[in-house]
Amino acid sequence: IRCQSTSTNEPKTKRNILDNASNLLTNFLSGGSLGSMPVAEGAVSDLFGRPLFFSLYDWFLEHGSVYKLAFGPKAFVVVSDPIVARHILRENAFSFDKGVLADILEPIMGKGLIPADLDTWKQRRRVIAPGFHALYLEAMVKVFTDCSERTTAKIEKLLDGEHSRGGDAIELDLEAEYSSLALDIIGLGVFNFDFGSVTKESPVIKAVYGTLFEAEHRSTFYIPYWKIPLARWVVPRQRKFHYDLKIINDCLDGLIKNAKDSREEADVEKLQQRDYSNIKDASLLRFLVDMRGADVDDRQLRDDLMTMLIAGHETTAAVLTWAVFLLAQNPSKIKKAQAEVDSVLGQGRPTLESIKKLEYIRLIAVEALRLYPQPPLLIRRALEEVVLPGGYKGDKNGYTIPAGTDIFISVYNLHRSPYFWDRPHDFVPERFLERKDSDGIEGWAGFDPSRSPGALYPNEIISDFAFLPFGGGPRKCVGDQFALMESTVALAVLLQKFDVELKGSPESVELVTGATIHTKNGLWCKLKKRSNDN
Ligand code: HEM
Repeated sequence: IRCQSTSTNEPKTKRNILDNASNLLTNFLSGGSLGSMPVAEGAVSDLFGRPLFFSLYDWFLEHGSVYKLAFGPKAFVVVSDPIVARHILRENAFSFDKGVLADILEPIMGKGLIPADLDTWKQRRRVIAPGFHALYLEAMVKVFTDCSERTTAKIEKLLDGEHSRGGDAIELDLEAEYSSLALDIIGLGVFNFDFGSVTKESPVIKAVYGTLFEAEHRSTFYIPYWKIPLARWVVPRQRKFHYDLKIINDCLDGLIKNAKDSREEADVEKLQQRDYSNIKDASLLRFLVDMRGADVDDRQLRDDLMTMLIAGHETTAAVLTWAVFLLAQNPSKIKKAQAEVDSVLGQGRPTLESIKKLEYIRLIAVEALRLYPQPPLLIRRALEEVVLPGGYKGDKNGYTIPAGTDIFISVYNLHRSPYFWDRPHDFVPERFLERKDSDGIEGWAGFDPSRSPGALYPNEIISDFAFLPFGGGPRKCVGDQFALMESTVALAVLLQKFDVELKGSPESVELVTGATIHTKNGLWCKLKKRSNDN
């Protein structure tokens, strides 16, 4: 049911036609400053021929970095400019909410951070963000390594079987392997539950995939029929969705009960200084339950866990998938990466200290996120009238957008903008080491790695919002360092042991989008044990 031509946001286009027609029609007809914005007219075929974000890129080159996309009576403002993105995400963050994204995710994530109303979000963000503290992340490096080694052990076993048959390489869908790996890691890191999905199937794993599948379906379907009373009983896929949700909820409720039964209350500073080498359960759930003054009902905790399970799983799996896809087309970059892994790790295991030294591997993960941002679009809806600043390629005076305007910040366009990147479509991990001045672009500060001293990974600050892999401002991803370190470890462990090639041509790897950019039929690779002459 994954639709090749469909992007995460496309369904929202369609659904909103029904949901908000009158409101939007008013906005659309109201003209004003929005009326002077360049307009890209979308045809229905744009929604089916290929992922929407490709068309958004072409229109960006044609119409500039702030334009109106009109599908019939429905209009979106598409933003591909760092100054305007910074205004929406950071300087004016609370003039916007998540619009249709929240409608889609609420049935699954409840009042978790992504869809939560502002009051709940403020309360929970204050409690959850401190959970990703330095010692927790350090403890997680062991989890990342243990889990990555389970994946390599599985590949080695398959290769041993192949060797006994006289062959020296196996073919494997690395996207599927990385999906399992990321699921195991998020389960252990967030609620100390070992899905063990690298090596087995279970009802809970099936339920997690079923739920993700439904989230994707909802984000790519015209009419929100699941809101119709009785739909959950009458429509088979909705019955299955509620059955899957119940399995996951029961599992999470059990974990929450166990954590609460063994609660050891402490102040947040104390929790952040715990000796993780002596703790059996290093999970975020443990932290959230033990934190003094952060009492919360089980339902909210469950929503928090579910949100992180979904937000942290496919996204990281996608980074790893596209990093391997890009590397496999660049043998010299694989060699460079393997040379770094050999000199830093030898045959040893990654640690926080080695992550600090694995600079090239870190930049590979970051460059994969530049070329394949997850998600490719950020979605917002204006809660009040907002005056946007002028952008680089937009109207220098900016535009006034009325309350109710739906906005796509195209991270994909920003990350491949010819105005901010040299060779924007090429895979060049080294590019992040260079400083790039603002080229006289008024209001944009250019790239400067020194602007974020001590940061292990390039971020939106060094690029003044031209690079937004984790968003920016108050709603920025809470799991960014977790995900980047996880990706660094998983890539290092793979390259330490194996040589990787694509099975077919790069063009044969078709791209589809749901919540993230993924492949249509898997990332089929040929894997060999590394030879000693490497
Ligand atoms: C928010 C990307 C991994 C938890 C976000 C946002 C982005 C993002 C772009 C901002 C969305 C917006 O502004 O609309 C990613 C990517 C990841 C990743 C690319 C992997 C490479 C994770 C992980 C976790 C996580 C591992 C948790 C363990 C969250 C949460 C939010 C969020 C809770 C909502 C934050 C808020 O609204 O306060 N993520 N994420 N993410 N992410 Fe991530």
